[in-house]
Formats: sequence, structure tokens, C-alpha cells
Amino acid sequence: MTPRRPWPLNVDGIAYGGDYNPEQWPLEVQTEDVRLMREAGVGLVSVAIFSWAQLEPREGDFDFAWLDAVLDRLHAAGIGVALATATASPPPWLTRKHPEILPRLADGTVLHQGSRQSYAVASPLFRDYALGMTRRMAERYRDHPALALWHVDNELGCHVPHDCSDAAAEAFRRWLRHRYGTPAALNTAWGTAFWSQHYDSFDEVLPPLSAPTFVNPTQQLDFARFSSDELLTHYRALRDVLRELTPHVPTTTNLMMSTGTKWMDYFSWADDLDVVANDHYLIAGDPEAHIELAFSADLSRGVAGGDPWMLMEHSTSAVNWQPRNRAKGPGEMLRNSLAHVARGADAVMFFQWRQSAAGAEKYHSAMLPHAGEDSDVWRGTLELGRRLRSLSPVRGSRVVADVALVFDYPSWWASESEGHPTQALSYPDEVMRWYRALWRRGVTVDIVSPRTVPSGHRVVIVPTLYAVDDGCAARIAEAAHGGASVLVTFFSGIVDENDHVRLGGYPGAFRELLGVRTEEFHPLLQDETLTLDDGTSATLWSERTRLEGARAVRTWAEGPLEGLPAVTRNPAGRGSAWYVGTRPDADGVARIVDALLAEADVAPAVPGLADGVEAVRRRADDGTSFLFLINHTSHDVEVPATGRELIRGEEVRSHLTVPALETAVLRER
Ligand code: GLA
Repeated sequence: MTPRRPWPLNVDGIAYGGDYNPEQWPLEVQTEDVRLMREAGVGLVSVAIFSWAQLEPREGDFDFAWLDAVLDRLHAAGIGVALATATASPPPWLTRKHPEILPRLADGTVLHQGSRQSYAVASPLFRDYALGMTRRMAERYRDHPALALWHVDNELGCHVPHDCSDAAAEAFRRWLRHRYGTPAALNTAWGTAFWSQHYDSFDEVLPPLSAPTFVNPTQQLDFARFSSDELLTHYRALRDVLRELTPHVPTTTNLMMSTGTKWMDYFSWADDLDVVANDHYLIAGDPEAHIELAFSADLSRGVAGGDPWMLMEHSTSAVNWQPRNRAKGPGEMLRNSLAHVARGADAVMFFQWRQSAAGAEKYHSAMLPHAGEDSDVWRGTLELGRRLRSLSPVRGSRVVADVALVFDYPSWWASESEGHPTQALSYPDEVMRWYRALWRRGVTVDIVSPRTVPSGHRVVIVPTLYAVDDGCAARIAEAAHGGASVLVTFFSGIVDENDHVRLGGYPGAFRELLGVRTEEFHPLLQDETLTLDDGTSATLWSERTRLEGARAVRTWAEGPLEGLPAVTRNPAGRGSAWYVGTRPDADGVARIVDALLAEADVAPAVPGLADGVEAVRRRADDGTSFLFLINHTSHDVEVPATGRELIRGEEVRSHLTVPALETAVLRER
């Protein structure tokens, strides 16, 4: 159970810190920064993410002196550095000299300098400049004792996931040649017999540019795959330079795993990251943002293959990029931080160390706010540092989960395509509907890719897994045959990896496993709700389903499908296969989840907890377990427990009180 992944060098315990942008401040402030970082117990900071223009103000004219001094100062204070390649934003001289490296949208709009990330990731010219800068950084700092981790670029694809520049078109054609070999194979995969789209050569192919109406869906799906791959290719190219010059230093980049970031297939990036790092921001308008946080953390752990991972960025309080930016409430930052640790993070870092006085992010919170040290945010920063030190023993332990939820980026892309039975389908909404019910039951969930469904989970939830190849379908069936209770929801298994419908009845890939066959979809209209025979209701979707071996668990109580099955169960080997052919309301989902958990004998981490109290367990190699209890409610809760509470340093003999809005971490053995 020892983690497979390397960790930032010389950083003890749970890593604590944030993005550090000293170039925005005069020297006396930078000196104060280091003093305050020490006071807060900061041990790792990300430096030089957006420093290219300061490090190379004119082409070929480098100024590293200021960065040398920053790294020396940090090292003297015992603070490690996640050093960036400084390539996340090209300097103005570069985009002025070579406007051809600018990215372009599908409608032809060019994205200019003056913001950030103004580069076409597929541009060979940009790549050369970025490789050159990366090499400079690695040559300069390869032996610097502060160097703990390499941070490549920053949030690759955040602003421009789909570049449609000429360079991208060229690279897309190369990618297609590699995937298909011949135009004939591409024509078959893309179904170009439709609408006169036949290609005679790869040279005729373009990215999916703005067009009169629906663009070929397989072209769109392949472009999404290509774009994710191309960002990864850029990462790899820079990473390879770093590996060549500093093979002993781990390399990563910060991913954005949440329900809000759609376009990077992070499961396919995982093997290239020495350590998986995630950035997560709460959505202020979501009253259950802490559940979305839990999902993001579980997804990060899933991408990391269960290993500890780094929370590379989150916010101490408000962000500045949502329509209305709410400050965090009492204790919320501490609960957020420890919820990530509960779910496998061994690093808690923020954007950013000191709140900017100028620039587009000046109203984004930071560890040290505009108000300075006499502020609740700074007191929170100090308190978090203290807590993380007390949680050092947790480092390296792994989260225990009996339930897996299958999550798939390509299915997200393809299921929300145009020209579908409903435009109201949101893949993350469907996923979160099931995730939320499990969170409320206190059951910890591993988020897994259909390409690597691990064995051993007692329940496997498969929400709207629209596009599946035969291998994925087989892996999910194997989970059921091996003893799991597998639940598949509507619009799953409908198409293959080329977005071609699996013929003969829906849900094609899972028909046999589920023992059902659907002839026709009956999507519901906006605001249409239909009742099921258990009194719960459903929206969005229904379908004319025939039983072919399965038994009906719920039927429609009204509407055109009255009496027909809506939820079914089929025995499958040593397990079972459930089908939910609609979108049940929250009560309906909860009842189905309860039935599954009961059937599979899955218990919550702590049975009988009050609503809104989160409990997650991490286990160390030596069998020690750490129980995280996060009380999101406004009343104190009593939890039966024995062990040692690490944050307050108290022995617990029978009961532990977790105060309202507070967190406790119990070492159980
Ligand atoms: C992202 C970026 C940071 C910063 C934050 C603000 O995570 O990586 O540079 O812009 O967003 O929330």
C-alpha cells in the first residue's frame, strides 16, 4: 500500500502553501512574506507560474537575478519551491513578433495578448519557445536546494481547451492519420456518407469550425480527444526536458477536476504526472458546494489511482470570477481544506499567498488578504497551518471505499452533443444526483474510469455512460458477474467509441447484462414530471422498456408508459445489474441507493450520523486508521468513537463531540 508516486522533495507532513507571485511586490514585502510564511507553517510555494515576461523581458535577454534571490530566501527559511516552467503565458514581445502562435476559436476569433494563456498549444513555434524557456529554468535551478517539484505551465486548457488555429488543424490531421491510417477508415468512423461529408484525403479535414448547422458528431468527439491529447503532448514535451536535466525532481501540472471542467480527459493524463495535483474552487451559488468539493476530491484520488494527491489550489475565501463572489463563512475554509485531506490530499495549497493589489485577480482572496494580519482570513491561515502539522501522521495513508462510480470524459462530451433526444441532459448533473445520495448516506465513493474499473467494489454506479467500447462494457459486466451490484442509468451504452448507435435496441452495450430492451426514448418536456408506482417522481427522461430477463422494481404510474418498467433488476453471475431508465427525484434516487447498499451490505463510514456530517476514513500501511469528521451543520454532534483526536490532541474514550461547523480527526488505533 506504499504510494507509488514520488512526492515533492524535502517537504515533511502534509504540504502547506500556495501560489507565490513575488514579482508583484517590492523587496521589503517579499522579505515580510517569508517571515509570515514561517509563522503560518508554510512549507511549499509555487513560484514563477506567470513570470516569463519578467524573466525574459526582451527576446534572449534574461533576468534571473530576482528569482535567484526569491529561491534563496525561501530556502533559507526552509520553504520548498514548486517551480513553474514560467511558460503559462507568453510575453508580449513573443505574440507581437509571432502573432501566428495566437489561439483561434471555432468562429475565427483570434485570442490576443493582454490576458493570459494566449498561445496555440499545437503551434510548433510556440512549443519551441516554451521548450527553450523550460530548459533555461531547469539549467538554472537544477541544483537549487529549494527545488521540490516542477510545475509545468498552469491549468493547461483552462481558457482555451479547443484551439482552432491553423497549427491545431495541422496537428489534428496528423492525429487523425495516426488514428485511422487511411481516409477510408476515417470516413467509416465519422459516418461521412451522411450530408455529403466524404473526405478524399486527410488534407481536406478541418477542426469543427462554426458551420450552418450541426457539425459531424464524431468529428467533434475526435477533436475533443485530439485537443485533450495535444495539451498532454505539450505537457510531456516540457516534462521530458525537466526529466532529462533533473531526473530526481518530480513533475506535475495542476488539473481542474470538478463538475465544471469538461474538456480534458484527465484519466488519460494520470500516467504522465509524477504526482496528481488538483485545483478546486467552490461554486458560490451551490448550497451543496461542499458535496461537489467531495466529488472533486474523490475524482482527484481516482485519477491518482488511489494514491495521495496534491490540492494545488483552492481559495481561502471568495474568488473573483463567478457572477457573485461570496466570502466563505465561519470555519468554511478549514472544513474545505480538511475535507480534501480526508479524501486523500497530502497537500493543501491556495491561490494565492498574498492578495494582489493590481491586476485582474485583485478581488480574489488569498492566505494573506488586503486587510493584512489583523483579519479572520489570516487567522484562518495560521490555524490551518497548525492543524495540518497535527495531521502529519495521516500522510501516505489511503482512503477506503466500497462503492465505485464510473466517470468518463468522452461520454460527457458525446452525451451532451447536439441533435440528441433532449438538449436538457447534463452529464455532471446525472453523476452528481447519484454521488450526492451516496454522500448523504455517509458512504465513500471511488471515482473510476471505465477503462480501468478496478475489482473489489461492492457497488458500482454507472450514470449515463453514453459512449462505450466493447472493453468497457465487458469490464462493467465483469464487475457484476464478480459479485458487485451494478447500477446503470439511462442513455448508457447507446453508442460505440465512434458515436455509432449500437443497433437492435437500447441500451445496446448493456442490454444483455441488464436483461432489458428499449425500443424508443420518450424524453419528457420541460417541467413535465411523471409519478412512479412507489410515489416518487421523475423528470427529463423515460423510455419504452421491455423486460428480457430482468424484473421491474418500479413501474410508471401514469403517462403514456403507465405500467411499464422504469427501474429494473437482473441477476448477473454472483452480483446483480440494475437499470434506471429515467431521472428519479432525490427521494427516488435515495430509495434506490438504499436498496443497493442493503443488497451489497455496504455500511457508511460511521453509521447513524446526522445529516450534514461527513465521515471519511483513511488507512495507513500499518493498519492505523484516521477518521475524519466534518460537521457542516450549525449544531454540535456526538459521535461514538475511541482513539486520539489529533487536532485538539485529546484522548477519546467513548464519545467525541464535533462542534458545529468544525472538524475532528481521530486516530482510531
Ligand atoms: C486558477 C489559476 C490561478 C488563478 C485562480 C483563481 O486556478 O491557476 O492562476 O487564476 O484560478 O481562482
